[in-house]
Amino acid sequence: MRALITGGAGFIGSHLAEYLLDKGFEVSVIDNLSTGRKRNIAHLFSNDNFEFFQTTIMNEPVIEDLISRSDVVYHLAAAVGVKLIIDKPVETIETNIRGTENVLKFANKAHKKVLIASTSEVYGKQPHDKLKETDNRQYGPTTAHRWSYASSKAIDEFLALAYYKQYRLPVIIARFFNTVGPRQVGTYGMVLPTFVQQALKNEPITIYGDGKQSRSFTYVGDSIRAITKLMETDAAIGEVFNIGNDKEITIEELAQRVKKLADSSSEIVYIPYDEAYESGFEDMQRRRPNNSKIRKMIGYEPTKMIDEIILSIIDYYNNL
Ligand SMILES: NC(=O)c1ccc[n+]([C@@H]2O[C@H](COP(=O)([O-])OP(=O)(O)OC[C@H]3O[C@@H](n4cnc5c(N)ncnc54)[C@H](O)[C@@H]3O)[C@@H](O)[C@H]2O)c1
Repeated sequence: MRALITGGAGFIGSHLAEYLLDKGFEVSVIDNLSTGRKRNIAHLFSNDNFEFFQTTIMNEPVIEDLISRSDVVYHLAAAVGVKLIIDKPVETIETNIRGTENVLKFANKAHKKVLIASTSEVYGKQPHDKLKETDNRQYGPTTAHRWSYASSKAIDEFLALAYYKQYRLPVIIARFFNTVGPRQVGTYGMVLPTFVQQALKNEPITIYGDGKQSRSFTYVGDSIRAITKLMETDAAIGEVFNIGNDKEITIEELAQRVKKLADSSSEIVYIPYDEAYESGFEDMQRRRPNNSKIRKMIGYEPTKMIDEIILSIIDYYNNL
Protein backbone atom coordinates (compact mmCIF):
# COMPACT_ATOMS: atom_id res chain seq x y z
CA MET A 1 0.00 0.00 0.00
CA ARG A 2 1.28 3.46 -0.90
CA ALA A 3 0.10 6.53 1.00
CA LEU A 4 0.52 10.05 -0.33
CA ILE A 5 0.83 12.72 2.37
CA THR A 6 0.45 16.31 1.19
CA GLY A 7 2.18 18.61 3.69
CA GLY A 8 4.17 15.60 4.91
CA ALA A 9 7.22 17.66 5.94
CA GLY A 10 5.05 19.58 8.39
CA PHE A 11 4.38 18.91 12.02
CA ILE A 12 1.49 16.41 11.80
CA GLY A 13 2.48 15.11 8.34
CA SER A 14 6.00 14.08 9.39
CA HIS A 15 4.68 12.11 12.37
CA LEU A 16 2.13 10.48 10.06
CA ALA A 17 4.86 9.56 7.54
CA GLU A 18 6.86 7.86 10.33
CA TYR A 19 3.81 6.02 11.61
CA LEU A 20 2.77 4.72 8.19
CA LEU A 21 6.32 3.61 7.31
CA ASP A 22 6.39 1.68 10.61
CA LYS A 23 3.13 0.01 9.59
CA GLY A 24 4.75 -1.19 6.33
CA PHE A 25 3.33 1.44 3.95
CA GLU A 26 5.27 3.00 1.11
CA VAL A 27 5.01 6.75 1.65
CA SER A 28 5.22 9.67 -0.79
CA VAL A 29 5.39 13.20 0.57
CA ILE A 30 4.72 16.40 -1.34
CA ASP A 31 5.55 19.62 0.47
CA ASN A 32 6.73 23.07 -0.63
CA LEU A 33 8.46 23.61 2.74
CA SER A 34 6.57 26.87 3.32
CA THR A 35 5.95 26.07 7.00
CA GLY A 36 7.31 22.51 6.91
CA ARG A 37 10.94 21.62 7.48
CA LYS A 38 13.26 19.16 5.76
CA ARG A 39 14.72 18.28 9.15
CA ASN A 40 11.30 16.85 10.17
CA ILE A 41 11.72 14.08 7.60
CA ALA A 42 15.53 13.95 7.21
CA HIS A 43 15.68 10.66 9.15
CA LEU A 44 13.28 9.06 6.62
CA PHE A 45 15.37 9.67 3.49
CA SER A 46 17.39 6.48 3.97
CA ASN A 47 14.19 4.38 4.02
CA ASP A 48 13.63 2.77 0.58
CA ASN A 49 9.87 3.01 1.09
CA PHE A 50 9.99 6.80 1.39
CA GLU A 51 10.06 9.47 -1.31
CA PHE A 52 9.89 13.26 -1.11
CA PHE A 53 8.84 15.84 -3.70
CA GLN A 54 9.57 19.46 -2.89
CA THR A 55 6.87 21.26 -4.81
CA THR A 56 3.45 22.78 -4.35
CA ILE A 57 0.09 21.02 -4.46
CA MET A 58 -0.74 23.60 -7.16
CA ASN A 59 1.67 21.68 -9.41
CA GLU A 60 -1.01 19.69 -11.24
CA PRO A 61 1.11 17.21 -13.25
CA VAL A 62 3.04 16.18 -10.12
CA ILE A 63 0.00 15.90 -7.86
CA GLU A 64 -1.90 13.96 -10.53
CA ASP A 65 0.97 11.50 -10.94
CA LEU A 66 1.48 11.07 -7.18
CA ILE A 67 -2.21 10.45 -6.55
CA SER A 68 -2.48 7.96 -9.42
CA ARG A 69 0.47 5.98 -7.94
CA SER A 70 -0.98 5.94 -4.39
CA ASP A 71 -3.69 3.86 -2.76
CA VAL A 72 -4.71 6.43 -0.15
CA VAL A 73 -4.22 10.18 0.20
CA TYR A 74 -3.85 12.17 3.43
CA HIS A 75 -4.34 15.81 2.46
CA LEU A 76 -2.65 17.90 5.14
CA ALA A 77 -0.98 20.66 3.10
CA ALA A 78 -2.44 24.04 4.00
CA ALA A 79 -1.57 27.55 5.07
CA VAL A 80 -1.66 27.12 8.85
CA GLY A 81 -1.25 29.39 11.88
CA VAL A 82 -3.16 32.53 12.86
CA LYS A 83 -0.16 34.80 12.30
CA LEU A 84 0.51 33.46 8.80
CA ILE A 85 -3.16 33.78 7.90
CA ILE A 86 -3.24 37.43 8.94
CA ASP A 87 0.11 38.26 7.31
CA LYS A 88 -0.53 36.35 4.05
CA PRO A 89 -4.28 36.25 3.47
CA VAL A 90 -4.05 35.67 -0.32
CA GLU A 91 -1.79 32.63 -0.03
CA THR A 92 -4.01 31.24 2.73
CA ILE A 93 -7.14 31.34 0.64
CA GLU A 94 -5.47 30.15 -2.56
CA THR A 95 -3.57 27.26 -0.96
CA ASN A 96 -6.46 26.06 1.13
CA ILE A 97 -9.08 26.23 -1.58
CA ARG A 98 -7.29 25.68 -4.90
CA GLY A 99 -4.90 23.14 -3.38
CA THR A 100 -7.76 21.04 -2.04
CA GLU A 101 -9.62 21.38 -5.36
CA ASN A 102 -6.59 19.86 -7.10
CA VAL A 103 -6.28 16.99 -4.65
CA LEU A 104 -9.98 16.13 -4.86
CA LYS A 105 -10.12 16.49 -8.65
CA PHE A 106 -7.26 14.04 -9.21
CA ALA A 107 -8.33 11.70 -6.40
CA ASN A 108 -11.70 11.51 -8.10
CA LYS A 109 -10.13 10.86 -11.51
CA ALA A 110 -8.17 7.91 -10.07
CA HIS A 111 -10.86 7.02 -7.47
CA LYS A 112 -8.57 7.12 -4.43
CA LYS A 113 -9.63 7.41 -0.79
CA VAL A 114 -8.83 10.84 0.68
CA LEU A 115 -8.64 12.15 4.22
CA ILE A 116 -9.07 15.92 4.40
CA ALA A 117 -7.44 17.69 7.36
CA SER A 118 -9.93 20.23 8.62
CA THR A 119 -9.99 22.15 11.86
CA SER A 120 -11.99 23.10 14.94
CA GLU A 121 -11.75 26.66 13.54
CA VAL A 122 -14.68 25.78 11.26
CA TYR A 123 -16.95 26.17 14.31
CA GLY A 124 -15.81 29.80 14.48
CA LYS A 125 -17.20 31.70 17.46
CA GLN A 126 -19.82 29.05 18.25
CA PRO A 127 -20.02 29.44 22.05
CA HIS A 128 -21.25 25.88 22.87
CA ASP A 129 -19.16 23.78 25.14
CA LYS A 130 -18.23 20.37 23.69
CA LEU A 131 -18.68 21.19 20.02
CA LYS A 132 -20.47 18.58 17.93
CA GLU A 133 -19.90 17.90 14.23
CA THR A 134 -23.48 19.01 13.48
CA ASP A 135 -23.24 22.32 15.37
CA ASN A 136 -23.76 25.57 13.45
CA ARG A 137 -20.76 27.64 12.38
CA GLN A 138 -20.48 31.26 13.49
CA TYR A 139 -17.98 33.64 11.88
CA GLY A 140 -16.97 37.27 12.13
CA PRO A 141 -16.96 39.74 9.21
CA THR A 142 -14.92 39.27 6.03
CA THR A 143 -12.85 42.32 6.99
CA ALA A 144 -11.31 40.23 9.82
CA HIS A 145 -8.80 38.09 7.95
CA ARG A 146 -8.56 35.40 10.61
CA TRP A 147 -11.94 34.04 9.41
CA SER A 148 -10.53 33.30 5.95
CA TYR A 149 -8.83 30.18 7.36
CA ALA A 150 -12.07 28.82 8.88
CA SER A 151 -14.00 29.72 5.74
CA SER A 152 -11.46 28.13 3.39
CA LYS A 153 -11.42 24.93 5.44
CA ALA A 154 -15.23 24.91 5.48
CA ILE A 155 -15.22 25.17 1.67
CA ASP A 156 -12.78 22.22 1.60
CA GLU A 157 -15.27 20.22 3.66
CA PHE A 158 -18.17 21.22 1.40
CA LEU A 159 -16.22 20.26 -1.69
CA ALA A 160 -15.08 16.90 -0.29
CA LEU A 161 -18.63 16.04 0.77
CA ALA A 162 -19.89 17.15 -2.65
CA TYR A 163 -17.44 14.74 -4.36
CA TYR A 164 -18.72 12.00 -2.07
CA LYS A 165 -22.35 12.81 -2.80
CA GLN A 166 -22.05 13.30 -6.52
CA TYR A 167 -19.29 10.81 -7.48
CA ARG A 168 -19.09 8.47 -4.45
CA LEU A 169 -15.46 9.50 -3.97
CA PRO A 170 -14.44 7.96 -0.61
CA VAL A 171 -13.60 10.97 1.58
CA ILE A 172 -13.21 11.36 5.34
CA ILE A 173 -12.99 14.72 7.10
CA ALA A 174 -10.94 15.12 10.28
CA ARG A 175 -11.46 18.29 12.34
CA PHE A 176 -8.31 18.59 14.44
CA PHE A 177 -8.54 20.48 17.75
CA ASN A 178 -5.19 22.05 18.78
CA THR A 179 -2.90 19.17 17.93
CA VAL A 180 0.47 19.58 19.64
CA GLY A 181 3.76 17.78 20.21
CA PRO A 182 7.40 17.72 19.13
CA ARG A 183 8.25 19.44 15.79
CA GLN A 184 5.45 22.00 15.97
CA VAL A 185 6.93 25.48 15.56
CA GLY A 186 5.84 28.70 17.22
CA THR A 187 6.72 30.96 14.30
CA TYR A 188 3.17 31.29 12.95
CA GLY A 189 1.33 31.84 16.23
CA MET A 190 1.12 28.36 17.81
CA VAL A 191 0.91 28.83 21.55
CA LEU A 192 2.55 25.78 23.09
CA PRO A 193 5.86 25.72 21.20
CA THR A 194 6.08 29.49 21.70
CA PHE A 195 5.64 29.18 25.48
CA VAL A 196 8.12 26.29 25.71
CA GLN A 197 10.81 28.12 23.74
CA GLN A 198 10.30 31.29 25.78
CA ALA A 199 10.48 29.31 29.04
CA LEU A 200 13.64 27.45 28.03
CA LYS A 201 15.37 30.75 27.19
CA ASN A 202 14.05 32.33 30.44
CA GLU A 203 12.43 35.04 28.28
CA PRO A 204 8.98 36.49 29.09
CA ILE A 205 6.13 34.04 28.38
CA THR A 206 3.68 36.09 26.31
CA ILE A 207 -0.03 35.50 26.83
CA TYR A 208 -2.31 37.14 24.24
CA GLY A 209 -5.43 38.67 25.81
CA ASP A 210 -6.27 38.02 29.48
CA GLY A 211 -5.30 34.34 29.42
CA LYS A 212 -8.75 33.27 30.64
CA GLN A 213 -9.51 31.70 27.24
CA SER A 214 -9.22 27.92 27.37
CA ARG A 215 -8.17 25.30 24.85
CA SER A 216 -8.02 21.51 24.69
CA PHE A 217 -4.68 20.14 23.52
CA THR A 218 -4.34 16.82 21.73
CA TYR A 219 -1.11 14.89 21.44
CA VAL A 220 -0.06 14.41 17.80
CA GLY A 221 0.29 10.62 18.26
CA ASP A 222 -3.35 10.41 19.38
CA SER A 223 -4.48 12.39 16.31
CA ILE A 224 -2.48 10.12 14.01
CA ARG A 225 -3.85 6.92 15.47
CA ALA A 226 -7.32 8.41 15.00
CA ILE A 227 -6.94 9.36 11.32
CA THR A 228 -5.23 6.11 10.29
CA LYS A 229 -7.93 4.07 12.04
CA LEU A 230 -10.63 6.15 10.35
CA MET A 231 -9.00 5.42 6.97
CA GLU A 232 -9.34 1.68 7.71
CA THR A 233 -13.03 2.03 8.60
CA ASP A 234 -15.54 1.83 5.75
CA ALA A 235 -18.36 3.30 7.85
CA ALA A 236 -16.29 6.51 8.27
CA ILE A 237 -16.51 7.35 4.55
CA GLY A 238 -18.48 10.50 3.78
CA GLU A 239 -18.39 11.57 7.44
CA VAL A 240 -16.91 14.42 9.47
CA PHE A 241 -15.13 13.72 12.79
CA ASN A 242 -13.85 15.87 15.63
CA ILE A 243 -10.40 14.73 16.77
CA GLY A 244 -9.41 16.25 20.07
CA ASN A 245 -8.93 15.89 23.78
CA ASP A 246 -11.85 17.13 25.85
CA LYS A 247 -9.72 18.11 28.89
CA GLU A 248 -9.35 21.88 28.83
CA ILE A 249 -6.87 24.33 30.31
CA THR A 250 -6.78 28.13 30.30
CA ILE A 251 -3.89 29.78 28.48
CA GLU A 252 -2.82 31.36 31.77
CA GLU A 253 -2.66 27.95 33.47
CA LEU A 254 -0.82 26.61 30.44
CA ALA A 255 1.85 29.31 30.79
CA GLN A 256 2.26 28.43 34.48
CA ARG A 257 2.52 24.66 33.75
CA VAL A 258 5.15 25.28 31.06
CA LYS A 259 7.15 27.58 33.35
CA LYS A 260 7.10 24.99 36.15
CA LEU A 261 7.90 21.96 34.01
CA ALA A 262 10.72 23.78 32.21
CA ASP A 263 12.07 24.94 35.58
CA SER A 264 12.14 28.44 34.11
CA SER A 265 12.61 31.88 35.66
CA SER A 266 10.55 33.57 32.88
CA GLU A 267 8.02 36.20 33.90
CA ILE A 268 4.51 35.82 32.48
CA VAL A 269 3.33 38.90 30.54
CA TYR A 270 0.05 39.83 28.84
CA ILE A 271 -0.20 41.34 25.34
CA PRO A 272 -3.47 42.76 23.98
CA TYR A 273 -4.82 40.95 20.90
CA ASP A 274 -4.73 44.16 18.85
CA GLU A 275 -1.00 44.37 19.42
CA ALA A 276 -0.35 40.66 18.87
CA TYR A 277 -2.37 40.30 15.65
CA GLU A 278 -4.47 43.07 14.13
CA SER A 279 -6.95 45.63 15.33
CA GLY A 280 -10.37 44.08 16.06
CA PHE A 281 -8.92 40.54 16.38
CA GLU A 282 -11.49 38.15 17.85
CA ASP A 283 -10.60 35.00 19.77
CA MET A 284 -12.75 32.16 21.07
CA GLN A 285 -13.20 31.87 24.84
CA ARG A 286 -13.06 28.10 24.72
CA ARG A 287 -12.94 25.32 22.18
CA ARG A 288 -13.56 21.81 23.35
CA PRO A 289 -14.62 18.80 21.25
CA ASN A 290 -17.46 16.42 21.78
CA ASN A 291 -15.73 13.14 20.90
CA SER A 292 -18.81 10.90 20.98
CA LYS A 293 -18.91 10.33 17.22
CA ILE A 294 -15.31 9.19 16.80
CA ARG A 295 -15.41 7.23 20.05
CA LYS A 296 -18.40 5.28 18.74
CA MET A 297 -16.85 4.80 15.28
CA ILE A 298 -13.34 3.61 16.25
CA GLY A 299 -13.16 3.57 20.08
CA TYR A 300 -10.95 6.69 20.09
CA GLU A 301 -9.68 7.98 23.45
CA PRO A 302 -6.82 10.47 23.84
CA THR A 303 -3.96 8.95 25.83
CA LYS A 304 -1.51 11.77 26.63
CA MET A 305 -2.47 14.61 28.97
CA ILE A 306 -1.08 18.13 29.14
CA ASP A 307 1.93 17.69 31.47
CA GLU A 308 3.23 14.72 29.51
CA ILE A 309 2.73 16.65 26.27
CA ILE A 310 4.60 19.71 27.60
CA LEU A 311 7.48 17.48 28.74
CA SER A 312 7.72 15.89 25.28
CA ILE A 313 8.01 19.36 23.71
CA ILE A 314 10.60 20.50 26.25
CA ASP A 315 12.58 17.35 25.50
CA TYR A 316 12.35 18.05 21.75
CA TYR A 317 13.68 21.61 22.05
CA ASN A 318 16.40 20.56 24.48
CA ASN A 319 17.68 18.00 21.96
CA LEU A 320 17.40 20.13 18.81
N1 LIG B 1 -1.77 21.49 14.40
C1 LIG B 1 -3.02 21.78 14.65
O1 LIG B 1 -3.37 22.07 15.79
C2 LIG B 1 -4.08 21.74 13.58
C3 LIG B 1 -5.38 22.06 13.98
C4 LIG B 1 -6.36 22.04 13.02
C5 LIG B 1 -6.08 21.67 11.72
N2 LIG B 1 -4.82 21.37 11.35
C6 LIG B 1 -4.59 21.01 9.96
O2 LIG B 1 -3.68 19.93 9.88
C7 LIG B 1 -2.86 20.06 8.71
C8 LIG B 1 -1.39 19.98 9.09
O3 LIG B 1 -1.09 21.05 9.98
P1 LIG B 1 0.25 21.14 10.84
O4 LIG B 1 -0.13 21.56 12.20
O5 LIG B 1 1.05 19.91 10.66
O6 LIG B 1 0.93 22.41 10.19
P2 LIG B 1 2.27 22.54 9.31
O7 LIG B 1 2.36 23.96 8.90
O8 LIG B 1 3.42 21.96 10.04
O9 LIG B 1 1.92 21.61 8.06
C9 LIG B 1 1.40 22.08 6.84
C10 LIG B 1 2.35 21.63 5.75
O10 LIG B 1 1.83 21.95 4.48
C11 LIG B 1 2.89 22.44 3.69
N3 LIG B 1 2.32 23.29 2.63
C12 LIG B 1 1.71 24.48 2.76
N4 LIG B 1 1.31 24.94 1.55
C13 LIG B 1 1.69 24.01 0.64
C14 LIG B 1 1.57 23.90 -0.77
N5 LIG B 1 0.97 24.86 -1.48
N6 LIG B 1 2.07 22.80 -1.37
C15 LIG B 1 2.68 21.82 -0.65
N7 LIG B 1 2.82 21.87 0.68
C16 LIG B 1 2.34 22.95 1.33
C17 LIG B 1 3.79 23.20 4.64
O11 LIG B 1 5.10 23.41 4.17
C18 LIG B 1 3.74 22.29 5.86
O12 LIG B 1 4.74 21.32 5.82
C19 LIG B 1 -3.27 21.38 8.06
O13 LIG B 1 -4.18 21.11 7.02
C20 LIG B 1 -3.96 22.14 9.17
O14 LIG B 1 -4.91 23.05 8.68
C21 LIG B 1 -3.80 21.41 12.26
